[in-house]
Parts: sequence; structure tokens; C-alpha cells
Amino acid sequence: MRARPVVLAVATLQLALPTSMLVARWLDEGSRPVSERPASWQMYSAEPPVTYTGTDAAGRDSVGRRSCCTRCPRTWYRPAEPRALVARASLCEFEAVPRRHALLTGATGWIASHLLPALLADGWTVRACGRRPRPHWFPEQVDYRSVDLTGDEGLGGLYDGVTHLFHLAGASSSTATEQEMHRSNVLATRQLLAAAPPGLERVLYMSSSSVYGEEVQLPSPVTEDVPPSPSRGYGKAKWESEQEVWAQGAAGLPVVVLRPVSIFGPGNIKLLGSAVLDTALEAWAGLDTLAVHARPIEQRLVHIEDLVRASLHLVEHEAAVGHAYNVVTEDHPSSHDLASILAEGLGMRLELADEPDCGLGYEDRSATRQQMLGQGMQPHILLTEQRLRLLRKANRNNRLSVDALLATDFRFARADLGPAIHQSIEWYRNNRWILTR
Ligand SMILES: NC(=O)c1ccc[n+]([C@@H]2O[C@H](COP(=O)([O-])OP(=O)(O)OC[C@H]3O[C@@H](n4cnc5c(N)ncnc54)[C@H](OP(=O)(O)O)[C@@H]3O)[C@@H](O)[C@H]2O)c1
Repeated sequence: MRARPVVLAVATLQLALPTSMLVARWLDEGSRPVSERPASWQMYSAEPPVTYTGTDAAGRDSVGRRSCCTRCPRTWYRPAEPRALVARASLCEFEAVPRRHALLTGATGWIASHLLPALLADGWTVRACGRRPRPHWFPEQVDYRSVDLTGDEGLGGLYDGVTHLFHLAGASSSTATEQEMHRSNVLATRQLLAAAPPGLERVLYMSSSSVYGEEVQLPSPVTEDVPPSPSRGYGKAKWESEQEVWAQGAAGLPVVVLRPVSIFGPGNIKLLGSAVLDTALEAWAGLDTLAVHARPIEQRLVHIEDLVRASLHLVEHEAAVGHAYNVVTEDHPSSHDLASILAEGLGMRLELADEPDCGLGYEDRSATRQQMLGQGMQPHILLTEQRLRLLRKANRNNRLSVDALLATDFRFARADLGPAIHQSIEWYRNNRWILTR
């Protein structure tokens, strides 16, 4: 009988303590969630999110979501008052962890033009660097540094406060000589990683599937643990750069390597972009069929959105450290499938030809391109000497395994290539990177 008051007291304490903590947090935060629910309650429960309204630090009205902090797996919703932004950290169970601060190299390049906005939207703080002066379109919250990673003058405070490195800077054979490819891939990677501070949480290196090469037959599908055998200058430079990354990994740097295949999507100026241009040139020149060689060649592609999603996913996936990942859509269209998608997108029909060198020659395509430029076409997409070059590249190691990537619970969002390519063609058309009559 004497135990009853003790039990009662313990029960009251068990109820009162968490309730008073929740109320205290709510009062301290000063937010007014639309749902009238305490923010901390919302944050720690699995209930559907509520939207917070209020004024941000600059006095602007705001409504919407923010991520909480570096590692918080939950989404934080913007509090109603500026002082609540300060109180926010004290609400997070991961409060000791600093915000996620990315250093993004190759930030003026094409892949980064997609990755940078995705990082910002995901709540990262970003320091970006390229060699050219700050691009005018960079959002003002991005700290931009113009630096040649192969220079002798050191990297200054490039790493200050950085928690994660996304190393994208590099040069490819479309625009660079062998010497430049070596400098901007191998030397740049060596110097950048040599300056990496201890305590960096992750280094993500953007390598390439070209490291596998095309001459030596590798097991099919090619898994990431197969010793690569690069056959050309670009693949060799990327593989040598990877050696720099793996050496630093062996010395304790938490590295993860991505090996994407040809990437396509809005803003792409080569590979599939060049094939879109070739098709548009022939349509403009009045051809109503797109001719391709009757012998089909298996292709491989990945949409830029999936590469960006894979990068954001792997850079925070604990088990990814020390591993390489092929990044390629599982669907492997033939050159006929791709040509048929391109032809349809430009209002043409597919024609299978006996000759590999069918369609308009380089001079005719150059002349047509000049006419289109005269009509206001933007000059960004590269015109290749070999027509539809991407579709003609046979590769005995074309099939790559994506089992490792899928085992991390990553799923492709743009696996249906037809609609994704049509959407890209639409982007080129809308931005006048191609013209159609
Ligand atoms: N695009 C693809 O289909 C593809 C496929 C597989 C792998 N990758 C790899 O992905 C990465 C990014 O590709 P991307 O298509 O975005 O390349 P990109 O458009 O050619 O951009 C290259 C970037 O690297 C920077 N850079 C080059 N050399 C540098 C140096 N010495 N110091 C500092 N910055 C330097 C450039 O800066 P500035 O322009 O300001 O000089 C630019 O920001 C590359 O490493 C590439 O090998 C690309």
C-alpha cells in the first residue's frame, strides 16, 4: 500500500517532464505554425509536415521549407520570426553538428550548373570555384572564388569551413588537348586533395565511365571492382586522377567516386546535344528523313537530373565511403532507338542506310549552321566533324553494372529516355539553341 504514492509520483513525473519540455521549447521558439502545433512536436514526430509562415532575417515575408542542419534527417520548416531562426539550432537533436558546407569545383561547368541549384535547394552552404570570373547568374549567397587548381599560388582559404568537397573540375577531349586534360584532371586533383584539411566529412569525385576503356574486353556487365583499362587520353587522365583520389582515401580521406556515362539534359553542349544539333541542321536544310547506318550500335546514357540526385545521395550515404559507382540508366537503347527519338522530336522520319557516312557532310552542316546563327540561333552546342558522332561510338564494354548504386537504395527518376530526350529537345528549342521552321 505504501508503494502507491511513489508509483503515482513517478507516473506524474513521466507525464509532466516531456510535456513541460515541449511547452518550453515552443515558447522559446516563438513560432506560429499554421497548424497550431508546436514546432518541436512537428519535428520529432512522423506526422505530415506543416508550413510555417513569417519574416526572414532580411525582413521579407516568407513561407516554406528549410532543411534543419547538416545531418538532421528530418525537414525543418521555416519559423515565423527571425529570432526563431536563432532558436532553431537548439531544437535539433544534431545541434552539435555544423551546417553542411560544400566546396564545389568546376562550378562554372555544365554539370555544376545543375548541381549547384540542387545543393542550395537542399539547404547546403556553397563555396564554388572555377577559373573564370564569377558568372553573373550565380545566386548571391554563393561564395565564388576564381582559382586555377593547377596554379602555384596555393588554394588560399578555399577549404575554410568546408565539410564536403564535390570535385567536378576537369577537362575532356571535346575541348582540351591531351596536355590540358592531364593538367586539369590529374594535377588539379593532386593539388586540391593535398590541401584537404583533416576532418573533411566527404570527398565526392566526378570521374567517368571512360576509365574502363574500349579496347580490352572486360567482364560484362562491368562492375566497379574490375581493373579499368582506359584506351584514350581522356579515360587515361580520369583514371590517373582517380589514383590520386584512392591514394588519399587510403590515407584516411573519406572518398567516394562516381563514374557516369554520357550525360544529357538541358544545357548540354556535346554528345547527345551535338546529335540534337545535327538532326536540327538536317531538318532546317529541308530533309524529312534522318538517315542512320542500318547496323545498330548499343548506347548508354544518363540524365543530368539522375546524376545530380546520385551525387546528393552518395555524398551522405555512410556505406559509400571508399567505393566507386557506375551511373547509367539501365535501359540501353540502340542507335536506331535514339535516332528515332531525335527524328520524332524534330518532325522527321527514321531511315536506315547502307552507308555509315550517310546524311549531310560536315561542310553542308557547317553552312546550314551559319544560316541558323544568322537567324538568331545561339552558338553553344558543339558541331562535330563526324555526324551523329555519339550514335556511332561502339564500345565492347558498353554494359555497366549499376547494382552497387541500386544497393544504396538509389532509384533513377529519368529512366524513360524517350520523354527525357524530348524534353531536352524542347529546352534547346525554347532557348534557341536549335531552330525549327
Ligand atoms: N559531361 C559529361 O557527359 C561527363 C561525363 C562523365 C564525367 N564527366 C566529368 O564531370 C566533370 C564535370 O563535367 P562538365 O561537363 O560539367 O565539364 P565542363 O562543362 O567542361 O566544366 C569543366 C569545369 O572545370 C573547371 N576547370 C577546368 N580546369 C580547371 C583548372 N585547372 N582549375 C580550376 N577549374 C578548372 C572549369 O572552369 P572554367 O570553365 O571556369 O575554366 C569548369 O568549371 C568533369 O570532371 C568530367 O570529366 C562529365
